[in-house]
Amino acid sequence: MEDFKTKTGRTVEDMSIKDQLILDKLPRHVAIIMDGNGRWAKQRGNSRVFGHKNGVKAVREVTEAAAELGIDYLTLYAFSTENWNRPKIEVDALMALLVSTISSEAKTLMKNNVKLNAIGCKESLPDHVQKQLENCISETSKNTGLTLSLALSYSSRWEIVEAVKNIAQAIKENTVDPEDITNEVFSNYLTTAGIPDPELMIRTSGEHRISNFLLWQLAYSELYFSEILWPDFRKEDFYRALIDFQSRERRFGKTSDQLKK
Ligand code: IPE
Ligand code: IPE
Ligand code: MG
Repeated sequence: MEDFKTKTGRTVEDMSIKDQLILDKLPRHVAIIMDGNGRWAKQRGNSRVFGHKNGVKAVREVTEAAAELGIDYLTLYAFSTENWNRPKIEVDALMALLVSTISSEAKTLMKNNVKLNAIGCKESLPDHVQKQLENCISETSKNTGLTLSLALSYSSRWEIVEAVKNIAQAIKENTVDPEDITNEVFSNYLTTAGIPDPELMIRTSGEHRISNFLLWQLAYSELYFSEILWPDFRKEDFYRALIDFQSRERRFGKTSDQLKK
């Protein structure tokens, strides 16, 4: 197809991808494991940090795309508990990048009516990162569009253990009766309390694993794996994942015939 740019700057081919989306069948919550920054940089003979810096554009693209489509929740895995074990130079660079990105993107978040949220062990982040994060969270707290949750110093097992500790404490204080603990009650002790489970989870870079991300919340999510390395991920790739999601039959244990009734 002829690859000319339209007035909006999108190519005809790109427009047709977006046009394939069924707008009343969009997920409410999409979660993404943004992976492949290091390999992207290596392919270019550059440092891993160069890959992380170039991943920011992809974050902007998917956030904007999700906000434009009216998706309610987007959760991005930005830094795992296990990522603290990377070389100090990389960890320090990631923390610095986080601060500079939050400060440079705050305006765009306001413009797109995006509310920032963070899940994970915030206390383990350096003070200046915590401060910058809190500032942006409070600045965007009145926005009513997309809720963008950044998973920072996050791992699902950490989150589940924290929930268990808090429930145990509540039982000790007689504010919770063990008999009353249900799926819903347990969910309310997780960092994602109040946020519906993701209907779709995307992982880039060709890795087929969950890496300690939202283990409880992904129980019935559709999983989509893309070969694209995160810094190359664009709106059109996000639309492709959504289109694929829309072609799936979500049975939740039932038979296909039952769903058609
Ligand atoms: C994802 O890219 C970003 C973070 C985990 C912070 P990686 O840094 O894991 O990139 P690869 O997987 O080594 O290519
Ligand atoms: C998962 O990516 C964490 C983030 C994307 C932040 P990793 O690249 O750290 O995952 P593994 O260790 O290869 O599974
Ligand atoms: Mg990786």
